Amino acid sequence: MRTAVGIIGGGPAGLLLARLLHRAGIDCVVLESRTRAYVEQRQRAGMLEQGTVDALRECGAAARLDAEGLVHHGIELRFDRERHHLDFPALTGGRTVTIYAQTEIVKDLVALQLADGPPLLFGADVRAVEGVESGTPLVRFAHEGRERTLSCDWVVGCDGFHGVARDAVPAAVRRTYEHEYPYSWLGILADVPPSCDELIYARGPGGFALHSMRSPTVSRLYLQVPNGTGADDWPDERVWDELDARFAIDADWRLRRGPITSKTVTAMRSHVREPMRHGRLLLAGDAAHIVPPTGAKGLNLAVSDVRLLARGFAELHHGGSTALLDRYSRDSLERVWHATRFSYDMTRMLHRQPDGDPFDERLQLARLRRITASRPAAAELAAHYTGLPLPAAA
Ligand code: FAD
Ligand code: DHB
Repeated sequence: MRTAVGIIGGGPAGLLLARLLHRAGIDCVVLESRTRAYVEQRQRAGMLEQGTVDALRECGAAARLDAEGLVHHGIELRFDRERHHLDFPALTGGRTVTIYAQTEIVKDLVALQLADGPPLLFGADVRAVEGVESGTPLVRFAHEGRERTLSCDWVVGCDGFHGVARDAVPAAVRRTYEHEYPYSWLGILADVPPSCDELIYARGPGGFALHSMRSPTVSRLYLQVPNGTGADDWPDERVWDELDARFAIDADWRLRRGPITSKTVTAMRSHVREPMRHGRLLLAGDAAHIVPPTGAKGLNLAVSDVRLLARGFAELHHGGSTALLDRYSRDSLERVWHATRFSYDMTRMLHRQPDGDPFDERLQLARLRRITASRPAAAELAAHYTGLPLPAAA
């Protein structure tokens, strides 16, 4: 098999890149190790920046998103039994965010690609990427019991945190920056209408809690839990009681309870691999960087990576220049480090440290008080939350 751009991984990054390339008339193939059912069910992110929505619209993948996505004009911060609203359009010159689940984005992109897009192979497990320093890189993969190869002009590793593509960057060249957090998130889905119109980020007595949603009838909620916690340690009643305690305010407000349909625990880490390009290999999304989920940057960063890549491939294909692809690692890492810093600060500001250092707690409250009292401080949070603009192409 041969193609111009070999894409490893059929998560949001790989699928969106394939769509953008297809629309630009550039040949590509997507290799995904899992089944279609598996990638369409994997519960993950739900908050989309304006730029992410725009990218899905540009490539014709937003019909359902436009019909079913929930546009949000701000978030609520809760601490010390008080609630504070941040108004994003007022703070950012009109920007909003949209709630639409990652599972639905993946379903929409898979359906489009199977209908009229370039090849998408499920059950195609990539084993190695070779020759990225040459002009003819080669991807080796197993598919339907056979060893196969895909020769390409370029390879893009969109294969997530446990993928193989990034290991094709030689150890002497690559650098890794990492931070582990001393807590995890327990995430639940519940068949109950959300108890809020906007997302609530709470610093409660027992730690962080987040109220999000998936639709007018499905709530998505998260609780900070100690590392090593299992979902079974949290029977449903205990989850609701703890959420109640963490969201409690002095005003009249009630958390609606309903049947919990999914319960999972996610560890939290920051991880950045540099560079994001080596020879003819480019990395995008979780294959190159992970952020803790507070602030919902993971999926949005994956999308901005592939928007930069699509621009670079279009310039090469139509104008014959590699200038944008040559800048890709630098441009993308600039955004990655802003999002890494933002996610770290949001996480540190809202979670209780396991050792409960009183000095640290006072600093957290000072940060929260500043954001809720100072317009420039709130505007800085809102600018990052709604998403920084992509760098200019020229
Ligand atoms: P992925 O979605 O990981 O996709 C990579 C794809 O590559 C997968 O389909 C995988 O099967 C495939 N693959 C891997 N190895 C190979 C191989 N060798 N050959 C072929 N295919 C391969 N972000 C938020 O913003 N908010 C959240 O609440 C949130 N929750 C999360 C919860 C969990 C459990 C996880 C893991 C992540 C969460 N994220 C969240 C992060 C967000 O979901 C990711 O940033 C996003 O999925 C990145 O997309 P991606 O396409 O880069 O990677
Ligand atoms: C969601 C997840 C987040 O990490 C976040 O900050 C906002 C929303 C969500 O899954 O809906």
